[in-house]
Amino acid sequence: MSHPASRDMPLTDVASFVQHLQSSKRIVALLGAGLSASSGLPTFRGAGGLWRTYDATMLATPQAFQRDPGLSWQFYSYRRHMALNAKPNRAHLALAELARRNPAFITLSQNVDGLSPRANHPAGQLKLLHGNLFDVKCWDEHRCGYSRKNDFTDPIVPALALPTENPDSDLKAAAEKKKHALLRGADISDINVEIPQLKREDLPQCPSCKKNLLRPGVVWFGESLPEDVMSDVDDYFSDREKIDLMLVIGTSAKVYPAAGYTSIARAKGARVAVINMDRGDARELTKDDWFFEGDAAVIIPDILKTVVGEIGEFDDTKGPAL
Ligand code: OAD
Repeated sequence: MSHPASRDMPLTDVASFVQHLQSSKRIVALLGAGLSASSGLPTFRGAGGLWRTYDATMLATPQAFQRDPGLSWQFYSYRRHMALNAKPNRAHLALAELARRNPAFITLSQNVDGLSPRANHPAGQLKLLHGNLFDVKCWDEHRCGYSRKNDFTDPIVPALALPTENPDSDLKAAAEKKKHALLRGADISDINVEIPQLKREDLPQCPSCKKNLLRPGVVWFGESLPEDVMSDVDDYFSDREKIDLMLVIGTSAKVYPAAGYTSIARAKGARVAVINMDRGDARELTKDDWFFEGDAAVIIPDILKTVVGEIGEFDDTKGPAL
């Protein structure tokens, strides 16, 4: 067991966390890409934040889609493909189990990879702040309004099949390689693959208005978060009861409004526990908070164990069918 170096530093011992966890009722978790890193999926910032030569955050805008929908769709098609071939890790499973055991636990996820739903996280307690890679909608969602959920077709249209010369076509091996590279902090961009120019007519088309392209159902920079999700989250936070604990897991906490929920929870009484590989991403912690440094997939099942029990690896045969 390790002890904080000074009284102003966050706690790092599991025992004091477990004691607080066991008496906590209203618990919030904020999830980021680091949760899925050990499932082999790249994060956005730092190591792994490149897709080929592109900064992933630069592609996540409506302008990037408008400028080059073929490039945008190839990026999202790649992410869909990787996510479908990744498995929820033990942290996804432990959080899903915590939700089943505690109906007052709510998870706010910035992740669009579908791994928490595949870990059977109860849907009513999982708020997907940034949408989902497997939802698609008409580019002109306000006028046309077409959308569909849970479209796991891979590739979504034939033109978006991964190039065959892609060194990542052996996905199992690729996921393993990426997982280890990510945990080493290495750059895992696959820059050596040429990006084909796709024709607009070969991209996913809106079957309703038959005029526009479909786009991924994720939230891009400059866009609002889904209204129904926001309203559920607002209801949770505006409840008069205090919040006991806020878990901030694998996120750089740089994107708002998601990053702002920690101070709202704190204002409602929550003590905060940050789980991250990087101490630099755990900001504004007090001596009553916790910081657990390392891989979320290892730490989360460990620190939640007294409440959720022993968590095994994901079993494909028990997950919901894709
Ligand atoms: P980031 O890439 O910004 O941050 C990932 C965080 O996970 C960093 O703090 C890493 O130190 C940490 N990390 C990496 N591997 C980890 C591991 N194995 N265990 C624990 N922590 C680990 O990703 P997000 O914070 O999720 O939004 O980014 C937030 C949003 O910015 C995303 O949802 C996306 C992005 O642009 C949109 O696209 C709207």
